[in-house]
Amino acid sequence: MATNQTLRLFVVFFLLHSLTYSSSLSTKNIITDKDALLVLKAHITHDPHTLLAKNWSTSISVCNWIGVTCGVRHHRITALDISNLGLTGTIPPQLGNLSFLALLSINDNNFYGSLPYELARLHRLKYLNFNYNQLSGNVPSSIFNISSLQELSLKHNRFSSMVNVSGGGPNLMSLDLSENSLEGEIPSFILECKQLQFLNLSFNNFRGGIPKEIGNLTKLKTLSIGDNKLEGKIPKELANLVELERLILRKNVLLTGQIPSLLFNISSLWLINLSNNSLTGNLPHNMCSHHHHHSVLEMLQLSLNQLTGTIPYNLGQCRELTIVSLSYNQFRGHIPKEIGNLTKLKILSIGFNKLEGEIPKELGNLVELERLLLPDNVLLTGQIPSLLFNISSLWQIDLTNNSLTGDLPHNMCSHHHHPSVLEGLHLSMNQLTGTIPYNLGQCRELTNVSLSYNQFRGRIPRDIGNLTMVKVLYIGGNNLIGRYL
Ligand SMILES: *[C@@H]1O[C@H](CO)[C@@H](O)[C@H](O)[C@H]1NC(C)=O
Ligand SMILES: *[C@@H]1O[C@H](CO)[C@@H](O)[C@H](O)[C@H]1NC(C)=O
Ligand SMILES: *[C@@H]1O[C@H](CO)[C@@H](O)[C@H](O)[C@H]1NC(C)=O
Ligand SMILES: *[C@@H]1O[C@H](CO)[C@@H](O)[C@H](O)[C@H]1NC(C)=O
Ligand SMILES: *[C@@H]1O[C@H](CO)[C@@H](O)[C@H](O)[C@H]1NC(C)=O
Ligand SMILES: *[C@@H]1O[C@H](CO)[C@@H](O)[C@H](O)[C@H]1NC(C)=O
Ligand SMILES: *[C@@H]1O[C@H](CO)[C@@H](O)[C@H](O)[C@H]1NC(C)=O
Ligand SMILES: *[C@@H]1O[C@H](CO)[C@@H](O)[C@H](O)[C@H]1NC(C)=O
Ligand SMILES: *[C@@H]1O[C@H](CO)[C@@H](O)[C@H](O)[C@H]1NC(C)=O
Ligand SMILES: *[C@@H]1O[C@H](CO)[C@@H](O)[C@H](O)[C@H]1NC(C)=O
Ligand SMILES: *[C@@H]1O[C@H](CO)[C@@H](O)[C@H](O)[C@H]1NC(C)=O
Ligand SMILES: *[C@@H]1O[C@H](CO)[C@@H](O)[C@H](O)[C@H]1NC(C)=O
Repeated sequence: MATNQTLRLFVVFFLLHSLTYSSSLSTKNIITDKDALLVLKAHITHDPHTLLAKNWSTSISVCNWIGVTCGVRHHRITALDISNLGLTGTIPPQLGNLSFLALLSINDNNFYGSLPYELARLHRLKYLNFNYNQLSGNVPSSIFNISSLQELSLKHNRFSSMVNVSGGGPNLMSLDLSENSLEGEIPSFILECKQLQFLNLSFNNFRGGIPKEIGNLTKLKTLSIGDNKLEGKIPKELANLVELERLILRKNVLLTGQIPSLLFNISSLWLINLSNNSLTGNLPHNMCSHHHHHSVLEMLQLSLNQLTGTIPYNLGQCRELTIVSLSYNQFRGHIPKEIGNLTKLKILSIGFNKLEGEIPKELGNLVELERLLLPDNVLLTGQIPSLLFNISSLWQIDLTNNSLTGDLPHNMCSHHHHPSVLEGLHLSMNQLTGTIPYNLGQCRELTNVSLSYNQFRGRIPRDIGNLTMVKVLYIGGNNLIGRYL
């Protein structure tokens, strides 16, 4: 009996021992992983919800810790996602020991200090997301040596430099370094990441020219390098980016020269934002004239440049356009009536140019138009097409400081089936005549009305008093009499 018990105890002990022994063999690496996370935990100086303090406990398996995922096959940590936990701390080099890690995401916390170059040892890493922290110093170029890396996001940190290396991540598809303080030229190793589809370097202090080698990144779908200090011309090689969908070069105020006309031949491009540069020359006349397929261009933003010539009439072929912004340039000539073909247009902003002639009545076909911004083209003459006021989606009309004449139409805001949404009506500084139409009082959503400095005469209609939402009403500088009719 006693011997039996001893034997059983011995067997149990032996079993236990061999179990622990064999598991200690197979858990050697998971213990390395656990140690690495304990070092990370020790580097966290503020944990507002005491999440890690409570949850990352040595008494439970690291694979059950919050934010940790282990692989089934090797029983190692494959993903660490501790995003958005309000954590403050630094990144220890031991994280480089998580050698099975495929995903590392600490975005939306307050991690600070520099990134350890040991992260380059994560040779299975595919996704690295440190967005929205306060990391600073050098972006370790060793990270770009991780050949498995597909996505690297360091948006909204305080990185200030990048060392130029040779050889970019061969499988990197997405790189977001936006909203940092990166300086110097766009590093050439980025231009060697041949698989890049998404590149966002905007809101930094990059200087120098836009490298023409960007045209070699032929898989790019998004190129966003606006809000920097880039200068020189837009390289014509960008037209080689045959899969490009979004091109954002806005606010590089030293960017000069013409817009390469071949850019408009990229059939996948739906967003072009070149606002607030110093671009010159005319717009090409091949816009949206792809022979084999419809143009997909939805947003064309070229405002705040020094573009000249006329607005090309074949802009009317870009049938998918919802936003056209050409304001603050030096466009001359007539507003092409073909713009009336753009029936999906929501915003038409062509103010602060040198346009002349009449506002084409075809603009009344823009049944989805929400904002018509056409101020400060002092040579714009003729009547305001009354059909404009029939567009039921229109909530802002700005025709300030032109040379418009004639009476205001009497169909204002008299849509039969739905209430008017018009909020802003800016017609000051023209030569408009006649009386202020009483049915302006039907535009119940109006908040800002300026009719000042025209030649309106007669009495102010009593119905204006129906406009209970109005905050600003300018009607001075006219020939109005009396109070109310
Ligand atoms: C830690 O968090 C995980 C995931 O939320 C949860 O399943 C586990 O019960 C928690 N453990 C402790 C000790 O709080
Ligand atoms: C983990 O990483 C640190 C620093 O990079 C290193 O000194 C240490 O030897 C590593 N530990 C293990 C168990 O691999
Ligand atoms: C990248 O890897 C190559 C070859 O493995 C090596 O020579 C080079 O020094 C590495 N670069 C960095 C920045 O770690
Ligand atoms: C980066 O280094 C490469 C060679 O490794 C060199 O050709 C290139 O001019 C450098 N680019 C910059 C921006 O320093
Ligand atoms: C690029 O980054 C900026 C700043 O973070 C952001 O506002 C913008 O939407 C991004 N562009 C694209 C195309 O994702
Ligand atoms: C990269 O672009 C440059 C200039 O456009 C070109 O001369 C060169 O052949 C390209 N290199 C590769 C590898 O495509
Ligand atoms: C523009 O694209 C069309 C078809 O997409 C093509 O036929 C034409 O040759 C291109 N133009 C130029 C100058 O490459
Ligand atoms: C284009 O850039 C301007 C500022 O430069 C910005 O106001 C506008 O919203 C941008 N448009 C789009 C569609 O991103
Ligand atoms: C255009 O860019 C300049 C310089 O960056 C800036 O000061 C200005 O506010 C920008 N204008 C608009 C309308 O965004
Ligand atoms: C575009 O507009 C013009 C002028 O308004 C018109 O003559 C023409 O038929 C329109 N084109 C198409 C394809 O609808
Ligand atoms: C104005 O719109 C109404 C309905 O929204 C429609 O019945 C009327 O025919 C339109 N007027 C003109 C001149 O198109
Ligand atoms: C303004 O309100 C009065 C009284 O409610 C109404 O008789 C008149 O028709 C309204 N005027 C307009 C233009 O809607």
